[in-house]
Amino acid sequence: MKLQFPDHFFWGTSTAAAQIETAFDHQWKGLIAMDDFILDRTADHEKHRTEDIEYIKRLGSVYRCSIDWSKIQRAPFAPFETEIIEEYQAFFAQLLDEGMEIMFVLHHFLNPNWFEEAGGWLKEDNIGAFVDYCNQCITHFGSYVANWNTFNEPNVYAMNGYFLGSFPPHKKSYFKANRVLKHMGLAHEVVYTLLKERCPDKPVGISQNTAWFHARHPLGWLPARFMDWWFNRRPANRFELVDYMGLSYYAYVPFTPFAVTEKDQPGKLAKKGIPHDKLWGYRPEGFGKILRRLWKKYKLPIVITENGICTDDPQERIQSIKDYLKVIHQAMEDGVNVLGYIHWSTIDNFEWDLGPTYRFGLVHVNLFTKDRTMTEAGLFYEKVTQDNAVEID
Ligand code: BGC
Repeated sequence: MKLQFPDHFFWGTSTAAAQIETAFDHQWKGLIAMDDFILDRTADHEKHRTEDIEYIKRLGSVYRCSIDWSKIQRAPFAPFETEIIEEYQAFFAQLLDEGMEIMFVLHHFLNPNWFEEAGGWLKEDNIGAFVDYCNQCITHFGSYVANWNTFNEPNVYAMNGYFLGSFPPHKKSYFKANRVLKHMGLAHEVVYTLLKERCPDKPVGISQNTAWFHARHPLGWLPARFMDWWFNRRPANRFELVDYMGLSYYAYVPFTPFAVTEKDQPGKLAKKGIPHDKLWGYRPEGFGKILRRLWKKYKLPIVITENGICTDDPQERIQSIKDYLKVIHQAMEDGVNVLGYIHWSTIDNFEWDLGPTYRFGLVHVNLFTKDRTMTEAGLFYEKVTQDNAVEID
């Protein structure tokens, strides 16, 4: 069966600078990941820009990306480095020449070390430095950008960096996580207003990560409800000042009564008969529930800013694209206004604290030579973007 998407619907893929560029001077540099790779060289994107564009342009009309803040701005309020501005501008100009639109993410989990040393997102005083960085991004890159994301997934950043301690700066405090979210929310409002003043005709949103927290044991009811509130509902309220709601979804998290993931308890989901990828439970219909719920509450147009699956198997990735697009298409038929779909990720990259063996790419990247190869899943997605339709089983 073929599912056709509306004419105005857009397709694309996404990456993040810290995950594909060699680390410069940011908080992730030198981190030893779970698979023992060290985050330093990642996918060598800075050396493969032209080649990467050849893949990017085959995978939709929108490329969602970010830049390395630590490389372009070496101290608080310092002017951007000319050479680095030119490097990124040349890349963006090439993308535009190929007919691509750029969705620019101002913050995707990357802070320069100078920002971290000053207390990072825990300190309200640091918001000014971030706003200055955004202001200079508008000056130098604004004319290339079609669409802005202020923050990528503040809920994931605050949870992993300040509550679970799996991301730098590895803090484990519920109160600190809340403080970080609060400051990101405040920064978002300032930057939203700035963008509206300086680029009034460009849409601005954030990307919010969503997950299905599901109680599968009576004692799991409370923690699942709590996580749904803390992770899904509350951040949506804090980042309400947007032109569209950017959403990502990857995970089904059953509570039995404690949360079970493949990443933390390998084998346990399979034992319980729950489908999963290399990281989390796999239930695409959870995304449908979330899309309907957020649409009902906010009535804001929705962009799927990220969605994907952690697997080495292109066939599994193809199946997941079909499964998710079916769910999204159904939600749209039920009235949810979804403007476009951006797949995570364009190329294999360094999966934060887990490492580069946790693959999400439509394009395969060799861990050592960094050679790129289009996968069957990439070819499948290319066809989806060309047909504006997906063939499902
Ligand atoms: C993040 C990406 C990450 C992906 C898969 C998203 O939460 O924005 O940077 O690689 O999930 O874990």
